[in-house]
Amino acid sequence: MSNAAAKPLADDARERLIRALPKVELHLHIEGTLEPEMMFSLAGKHGVKLPYASVEAVRAAYAFHDLQSFLDLYYAGCDVLRDRKDFYALALAYFTRAHADGVVHAELFFDPQTHTVRGIPLEVVIGGFRDAMDDAHRRYGITSELILCFLRHLSEEDALATLDAALPFRGDLVGVGLDSGERGNPPAKFQRVFARARALGLRAVAHAGEEGPAAYITEALDLLGAERIDHGVRCEEDPALVERLVREQIPLTVCPLSNLKLCVVKDLKAHNFAKLLRRGVVLTINSDDPAYFGGYIADNYRATAVAQALTAAELVQVAENAARASFLPATAKTALLNKIRSAAARA
Ligand code: HPA
Ligand code: ZN
Repeated sequence: MSNAAAKPLADDARERLIRALPKVELHLHIEGTLEPEMMFSLAGKHGVKLPYASVEAVRAAYAFHDLQSFLDLYYAGCDVLRDRKDFYALALAYFTRAHADGVVHAELFFDPQTHTVRGIPLEVVIGGFRDAMDDAHRRYGITSELILCFLRHLSEEDALATLDAALPFRGDLVGVGLDSGERGNPPAKFQRVFARARALGLRAVAHAGEEGPAAYITEALDLLGAERIDHGVRCEEDPALVERLVREQIPLTVCPLSNLKLCVVKDLKAHNFAKLLRRGVVLTINSDDPAYFGGYIADNYRATAVAQALTAAELVQVAENAARASFLPATAKTALLNKIRSAAARA
């Protein structure tokens, strides 16, 4: 790729490079990897009646106009996840798909409150994920971590109780996050629970600036101690914030196909990805809820590279950004960065 680095990529060279790059996924809701086929098979297993006649009818229902219209279906879909084997099967299917896309490390979000409210113990949820993470490491060499997300449409008291309930599983968690409906649920609402999580040595991330204003990004950084911002694409509305993101090298975990499906952008050409990347913001590419948004991580790299006319050097930069922005130990990061560079040089 060396002498073509600055030019827009030809189709075959882009495909070769995207396939070859070792990828790190930092914004992936594991419940958002529930494919309709698995939804139907688990519904059959547990005798759950789905409001859809077929897999095709489920897919046809995935036409969203905003974040909430997606969340309504996403939470309803979770109802088929009931026992430890279900959570295992869900996560292992993700790892198998991610491995095919060249993912070597993944930091998975999960929404415990969606399951505990249905009477499913945390041990079942986390135990099933942990079994799959161990298997994914054995089978595919993929390393992974879990990030416990608080649902921001619920109260901070509920989040505090969830953190307390997760204490026996502290060793299974790398950090905490904040997701669900953003509008009207500012990061400020969760200051105490994030302070407590950080005091426990958990890392902090938060969704902000997807549908919510740029001010939520600033709040997530200053009030929650977030080390990465999930989405963050509305940072552009505050030039001083963009400057800060560049100066402090704060990573954004961008999910372009999600932004398209949830109408955060009208088309991928209108996305601010290349603009922010060229401005020096530390951007990464991720899949968010791939079963609902029509693409896994390589699809997101591909669609973004095409629509935004990314160069080879920019794609490599994005892959390197993700390795640096991960919660991997320093030695693993260095090894991964070397792998990315040599894979890019060979592609
Ligand atoms: N945004 C907020 N909450 C979510 C998302 C998202 O994209 N996916 C799953 N929960
Ligand atoms: Zn998300």
